[in-house]
Amino acid sequence: MLLEVKNLDAGYGYLQILRSVSLNIDKGEYVGIVGPNGAGKSTTMKTIAGLIPPMGGSILFNGEDITGLVTSQITKKGISFVSEEMNLFVNMSVRENLLMGAYIIKDKKVRNDRLDFVFDLFPRLTERKDQLAGTMSGGERKMLAIGRGMMSDPKLLLVDEPSFGLAPQLTANVFESLDVLIKTGVTIMLVEQNVTKTLSVTDRGYILENGKIGMEGASCDLADDPYVRKVFLGV
Ligand SMILES: Nc1ncnc2c1ncn2[C@@H]1O[C@H](COP(=O)(O)OP(=O)(O)O)[C@@H](O)[C@H]1O
Ligand SMILES: [Mg+2]
Repeated sequence: MLLEVKNLDAGYGYLQILRSVSLNIDKGEYVGIVGPNGAGKSTTMKTIAGLIPPMGGSILFNGEDITGLVTSQITKKGISFVSEEMNLFVNMSVRENLLMGAYIIKDKKVRNDRLDFVFDLFPRLTERKDQLAGTMSGGERKMLAIGRGMMSDPKLLLVDEPSFGLAPQLTANVFESLDVLIKTGVTIMLVEQNVTKTLSVTDRGYILENGKIGMEGASCDLADDPYVRKVFLGV
């Protein structure tokens, strides 16, 4: 098992949001976590990425206990987080933004190899490597944020709401980018409000509601489930 989250409790200050969340991800899997706005999807990812300290439970990565480590340590273990906010450096070029994602890699040659790898994956970023990130379109910026997340050579990529705020065509492009990545062997945990799309591309899914895992299963089974269809798909 690559990632094992066991009975995770987390929140902000005294406010508990996650209640005993447990989930597992195998190496090479493409796993979706879906649920309504405010369910705790981002909180789950932030806790795994070390941005929020857990209140209880444990997180194992490659069998190693990483509970309570800070983000830089977690990045070094091989987990990369592409946040909803993206936090791109708008006054820096595409290339410079990508290199920021490789800050944990000290060897310049290795860093440049990663840059070549990401440029190969996303030719669109190559075309725009000298363009300032702030002048890119919404879809291109998502691609850049995902590319930057790949710069540290992660084993597990956490991607939070890549389709948020994008027009359908651009959403399709972002999902294509993730398809490209999964073929490189990286494991992806995808958080989305777009339930239909997410369940159509991922292998397995978890439904998160009110800080708890309500259901889990093969994504195709979840997409066919009467409860999921009624509550999330409106059919
Ligand atoms: N920094 C914060 N401080 C306090 N409450 C927060 C903070 N961030 C999120 N929350 C609350 O935590 C709950 C879950 O939020 P979030 O994990 O962002 O949900 P989702 O990503 O599923 O939409 C919400 O009620 C939200 O208001
Ligand atoms: Mg969120």
